Order: sequence, then structure tokens, then C-alpha cells
Amino acid sequence: MSVALTPEQRVLLTHLESHVPNDLPERATFLLRLERYLPELLEGFTIIYPQPGALEKLLETMVKNHRERSAYLRRLDEARLLTPDWFQRPDTIAYVAYTERFAGNLNGVLERLPYLKALEVKYLHLMPFLKPRPAPHDGGYAVMDYRAVREDLGTIADLERLTGALHGHGISLCCDLVLNHVAQEHDWAVRARAGDAKYQRYFYMYPDRLEPDAFERTLPEVFPDLAPGNFTWDESSQRWVWTTFNTWQWDVNWTNPEVFLEFLDIILWLANRGVDIFRLDAIAFIWKQLGTNCQNLPEVHSITQALRAAVRIVCPAVVFKAEAIVAPGDLIHYLGRGTHHGKVSDTAYHNSLMVQIWSSFASRDTRLIAHALKNFPPKPSSTAWNTYLRCHDDIGWAIDDNDAAAVGLGGEAHRRFLSDYYSGDFPGTHARGLVFQENKRTGDRRICGSGASLAGLEVALENGDARGVHLSVERLLLGHALVLGYGGIPLLYMGDELALLNDYRYTDEPEHAADNRWVHRPAMPWDLAHDALEGRAPEHTQRMFDGVRQLIEARNRTPHLHAETDTTILELGNNQVFAYARLHPLGALVGVYNFSETAQWIKADALLEHGIVQPIDAITDRRLEVQDGGIWLEPYARLWVRNAV
Ligand code: GLC
Repeated sequence: MSVALTPEQRVLLTHLESHVPNDLPERATFLLRLERYLPELLEGFTIIYPQPGALEKLLETMVKNHRERSAYLRRLDEARLLTPDWFQRPDTIAYVAYTERFAGNLNGVLERLPYLKALEVKYLHLMPFLKPRPAPHDGGYAVMDYRAVREDLGTIADLERLTGALHGHGISLCCDLVLNHVAQEHDWAVRARAGDAKYQRYFYMYPDRLEPDAFERTLPEVFPDLAPGNFTWDESSQRWVWTTFNTWQWDVNWTNPEVFLEFLDIILWLANRGVDIFRLDAIAFIWKQLGTNCQNLPEVHSITQALRAAVRIVCPAVVFKAEAIVAPGDLIHYLGRGTHHGKVSDTAYHNSLMVQIWSSFASRDTRLIAHALKNFPPKPSSTAWNTYLRCHDDIGWAIDDNDAAAVGLGGEAHRRFLSDYYSGDFPGTHARGLVFQENKRTGDRRICGSGASLAGLEVALENGDARGVHLSVERLLLGHALVLGYGGIPLLYMGDELALLNDYRYTDEPEHAADNRWVHRPAMPWDLAHDALEGRAPEHTQRMFDGVRQLIEARNRTPHLHAETDTTILELGNNQVFAYARLHPLGALVGVYNFSETAQWIKADALLEHGIVQPIDAITDRRLEVQDGGIWLEPYARLWVRNAV
């Protein structure tokens, strides 16, 4: 073998090998992978957990789960090792849905497979389905048992049946892995509350306010309305407990190697049930350090690297998706910078792209999006962004002050404008959204609302404004074209393909009433979906549905969109138009988007510079006419321009 191990690592490898039982199935493969990923594993793990014996326990967890991996999943491991870019390919389309709202339960999802197939979905993210505490549970983000399914959604056997069936159709399953906190009803927390010292070390618990107060000095509040502060008094243990999110979501203590081993065991156990992708929920928060905001600390990446290396050894079919809704400079580290390059998460949410799309819709000006994305650090070529227009969460206006200043805007003023615009408070706005968790201290107002309501469809339909309806759908289709054409894995949020509006009935459900994110988490209207499939939905829905399907089909035949290739922002000299190039060995693909409701003209120079002499739009396969050295763009035009030959 040619893996470059230092002499010390080689000694260690021999020692570890002696702990791998001779009867382990596919032992030789396991040992090869151990050797290959040992440096990455050590680099991540031993920095954080130098405790004697920790590494042997880690190996034990890996061996145990490798033994239990089924023959069919081992075959999937081999298949994906042969196609390591399986999740980066242009045919990867992800669909994100709440199981109960999409299909009732896990078995119901099987019945909805034809719909997913019609949308050519290759990756299904079912929102948290592991057993949560009794409501409220933050949409399942307060897990009580990681080895059980939420009772109304089914059982672990149903999950295994589902992953097997999905794999049969070439669809992989993404599962939320909530690793910053557990429900206060989780067994570890129950024991900690009862005074068990071992389990108290699984959490951050303090007898008085001394340390909590010291930390609070530099900690932001995630849910200032729902759960102010970051610590909660627990009566039974007489301790202050760290609770970044809600009072019943207890932050776990990742400085404790036992916590690492527990979570690794959970990941591998779920991977053995057929889960392909783990969404590392709130990963930015898992390490705390006094005097910081306790987000994005370097230790987060060491821990992720160690988890990732262990997963590569035991179940290489599995990938990680980082949910870090943080500033661009911090975000890139989740895909790996410096020594972590390509060794941490394989994919991460591109929150900036999402925010900038909504910002450009409101301002009809593309200078900020172009500037912000231009300065985005390049990502490792083995990784992919998760691009999206809407998700299950609110939108926080992550506009960087320096980016705003560079294009002559005040960061704070622009964020205020966006909150006004999308909450419907700005004169002439087309949007209808709700303010989420207003922070009186910082002035921060996040926004909830479905893509369609934010894009103006709700207001236009209400006013019987045909042009407004038309423009809203155009806006949405532009947004989707950008999400599908930017490069990365597009995440289609359930119902967006049907332009579903806000659903205000969440206030009737006691469990949801206090959290207005439920306004954009509606139930799937299956009658409408079937009508759309058959081409007889109301005009605006049909146009949306057909438009999304057209984009998906176009993406499938456009190899330039492989995530390996990075995106280069272009300046076309028109402030209403956003453009970029994807410089693929097959030739360039130039994405062009008119963010205004008026026709715009762009010079064809940038196309020529990229070797596009006979421009054709890859979405419609239509030839583009160059007139007087330029191209006219319709209102909200979106083009994926490539050379005709
Ligand atoms: C993530 C989820 C969000 C949840 C939070 C706490 O940000 O997307 O819905 O509230 O984590 O688990």
C-alpha cells in the first residue's frame, strides 16, 4: 500500500489492526480503509480526545458497526467508491418534505414514489423523523431516541423498508442528525437530571450563574422570543443547563469523548438502516469557548473530520451535509479549508445565494449579489453546495456590511429594507411574509413565508391582478433556474413546484401556533399535484410545475452543471442582470438572469470571451439571437447559455 503514514502512525496502525477481529466480514477491505483514512482520523480525533484508550474505543465502535452492515449496503459502498461524485452529478435533484405533511407516514412515502419519480428526484430529505420529545419539539429537532422513529410516522422496520425501496429507484435518503442538543427527555438527560455524574458530563451544567453569565456576555440569542438566553434552570438537578435553542433542547458536551462515541455509534447505526446522507443540524454550535460567540470554532471542524473519516472507513456510501447558516468566511470551513480541505462535510447549505436571490428580487439590482458571490471563497472540487430558494426555516438577512458598503449600501439599512419589504410593510411591495423572532436589541427581523407568497403570488391572486400573477411565477421560475443552474445540489422544498401559498392555519394547532415558521410548512394538496401532473391545474400552478420540470430536464442534459466545476461571477455591465460562467472542460455555460420586470439588453462580449459564438439556451434549447452585438432579455429572463456546437 502506498498511503504515506509517518513511522508513528504505522506503529499505531499495527496496534489497531491487532484489535480488529479475524472473523470480521471483509476484514481486508476494512483494514485498507483504516490505513487510508488513519491520518485524517487521528488529525481530527486525537487533538480533541487525547485520553488514553479513546482511540481503541473508537475502533471498537467502528468494528461493531462494520460487522452489522448488510451485504446490500456493502455493495452500495463499493458502488459509490467507484463513483465518488455520485451526489455531485447534474441529475441529483433533492426534494425536502415533512413526512406527515407529504405522505402521512414513512409507508405513505412509498406510495408517493411515482410523484418523486416524475420530478426526477434522486435525493429525498425527510424532515426530522426520529423519535422526538412530546410536543412541542421544534419540528422534531428535539430528539428523545435516535434509534426509534416518531411513533405516528412508523417504525425502524418501516424506515429500512423505505430506504431499500428508495435505493431500488436510485433515490438516497437524507436524515437529520441533531448533534448539538437532545431533548430533555432523552435518556442521557433524564439520568443527568437524576444526578448521575457520568451523564451530567454529557451536558453543560452549572451550579450557579457564574459561568453562564460569563458566557452570556458574548453569546447571541437564537430564539429571543421563544427562548431568551442560552441557559435554563433545571429544578431536579439544581443546575443551570446550556440550552442554545429552546429550554427543552439540552446542548450536549462534545469535549467528552463518550459523547463523540455515542454519536458516531448513532450515525453508523442509522447508516446501517440505509440512511445515505446525514444533515448535521446546527453543527456550528457544537463547541463552546468563553469570550466567543460559540459558533464556528476550529474544534467543530476537527470533530467533523474525525466523524467523516470513521464513516468513510465503515460505510463509504454515506455523505455529510452541513447545516451552518453562517457568514461566507465561516461557511467555507464546513466544506474544508486548509488542513481540513475536502475532509469534512461533503455538502453545505449555500445560505448566501438564497439570501441574495431574495435581496435582488426586492431591489431589482444585482450589484450586491454579484459582489457577494464573487468574493465567495472557492470550494474543494469533491464537494457540492446545497442551493435552495426556500427551506423549512425563516430567512435571516445575512448581508455582510462590507459587501453592502462595496456597492454603496448601508448593511443595516438594507437588512431593514428587506425585512420591511418581505413583511409587506414597504410601499408597493408584492411580498407577504411574517416577521420571525424580532430582536428588539439588534433590530434583527427574520422572515417567514412560502416562496410563492414572498414572490408576490398571494397578493396578486387576492387582487385579481393577472400581470402580478404572471410576474410572480416568472420571479419564482427565475429563482429556481438560478438554484438549479448555479452548480450544486438543488433542494426543492415541498410544494414550491406547485407555488403553494402561506398556510395561516398553523395558528389553529396549539403545537405550532407560537412558531410562525409553520406558515410555510403546509400539507401537500395531492389533488392539485395530480392535476399538475396531468396538465390540468390552474394556469399559474401549471406554469410553475411545468417550468420546474423543464428546468430539471434541462439540468439532466447539461453536464456543465456537475458540482466539481466552480462558478465564476461575471460583470455584464447591466445592474439588473446577474451572470456567471461555469468553465467546464466541455465548454463554458453562462447563466444569465434578468432580475427586473422590464426587458434588458446585454452585450454579447462575455459570451464570445468564453468561446460561445453560436449561443443557445440550454433550458429551452432555443437559439439566441445576437443583435447589434448584444442580446435582449425578457422581464425575468433566465438563460443557461452554451455554444450550439
Ligand atoms: C436548525 C433547524 C431548525 C431548528 C434548529 C434547532 O437550524 O433547521 O429548524 O430549529 O436547528 O435544532
